[in-house]
Amino acid sequence: MASADSKAPFSLDSYYVSEELGFILPEPLVELPPYYQPWMDVALRIPELVHSHKLRSHINKMPLLSSEFLQKHRELRLAHLALSMMTMGYVWQEGENNTVEMLPCNLSVPFWEVSQRLGFPPILTHADGVLANWKKKDPKGPFDMENLELLVSLPGGESVRGFFLVTLLVELAAVPALRSIPTVINGVRCGDTEIVARALEDISQSIQDMTDALKLMQVYVDPAVFYGKMRIYLSGWKDNPCMPNGLMYEGVQTEPMEYSGGSAAQSSLLHCFDELLGVSHEGNGGSFLTRMRDYMPPAHKQLIQDISLQPSLRSFVQQQTCDRLNQAFHHCVTKLVAMRSYHINVVSRFITVPAARARQLCNQSQSSEVEMVSRAPTALEERGTGGSDIMTFLKSVRDETKDILLPETS
Ligand code: HEM
Repeated sequence: MASADSKAPFSLDSYYVSEELGFILPEPLVELPPYYQPWMDVALRIPELVHSHKLRSHINKMPLLSSEFLQKHRELRLAHLALSMMTMGYVWQEGENNTVEMLPCNLSVPFWEVSQRLGFPPILTHADGVLANWKKKDPKGPFDMENLELLVSLPGGESVRGFFLVTLLVELAAVPALRSIPTVINGVRCGDTEIVARALEDISQSIQDMTDALKLMQVYVDPAVFYGKMRIYLSGWKDNPCMPNGLMYEGVQTEPMEYSGGSAAQSSLLHCFDELLGVSHEGNGGSFLTRMRDYMPPAHKQLIQDISLQPSLRSFVQQQTCDRLNQAFHHCVTKLVAMRSYHINVVSRFITVPAARARQLCNQSQSSEVEMVSRAPTALEERGTGGSDIMTFLKSVRDETKDILLPETS
């Protein structure tokens, strides 16, 4: 791996980053070896089995399978996806009031083993639900909403599909930015202002494309369904009042364990951009984001770490008196701030507004929307970030991004 004093040019080669797809897992497998059919039989029916309150009993009846016949990386990823989705369904099948204290060993033991081999936590992560959970309907067709489908789903119908696939398209939009990171680093190392400026311009464009992709969320996801139905299935068992002791993984450890739920805070993209541009996050928010790196594929976490060891881009921009470079840096930071501001909007539309509506409508009417929104897990309303209020957290992360802007040259 690269380090600060490495002489070799910085490259993405050793970090499991694909030229075409960035952090997205290329061509995820859609099937496991036949021995694992009992897992897939259940995993492919999660929404329906949760709906009929039968997922837990189906999982309880699954045989305890050995994980040793899983060999390739993509097999392990599909196994982790299937086992993590089953785990979320198992824990949250009955909502926030009837959770379980223990995951049965036929699920927890293989889940733990697969997690250990991948270096993933034993819970649903962004790397599962988004990066490894897609398939093209027509393999030769485009990588777009119409031609993509999920491999494994959760309760919430089309909105679940929309939520995971739009997030996948945000990852895709970031690929040119990711590819330009080594160009920036190598340009700084050899003092080439033109190359660095051009690469930063490409990164700005790519961040703009990410924001545009994020806008699709309002087309494909219904806030009432997201808030009232699916969000609970992304929730973890750390700092969660519904599961104050965490979750016991039977046959793995005798003490319960705590893990955070799935979130795009676990996407490696913004962590890479922050390290490249020199954004640092302090306080509770900063430690939450640092902790989220343990929920990423280890090679991607290593990339973030190695970017952070490179000579400072921001100091380079300050030292060179180059207008184009100054402006390119300024533009890039501004685009990242704008993306975070837009994301705050999204969170407001998908969490804050439905939460307020739920409080307002509670006990008023029996319409299905009211019922769904008002039955949403109240303990999750304002949380998700290790205790701090969501909006305060997101705004401070956005403002810390603004803080690195340099005074613009003429
Ligand atoms: C309906 C859509 C979305 C909702 C409701 C949502 C909600 C949230 C929430 C509540 C947080 C706070 C941390 C946490 O609770 O885990 C968060 C953080 C974050 N989200 Fe989203 N999110 C959505 C979509 C996305 C997408 C598509 C991306 C793009 C990859 C994204 C990127 C991030 C990032 C990077 C953070 C960490 C804070 C930061 O670095 O600014 N989110 N999100």
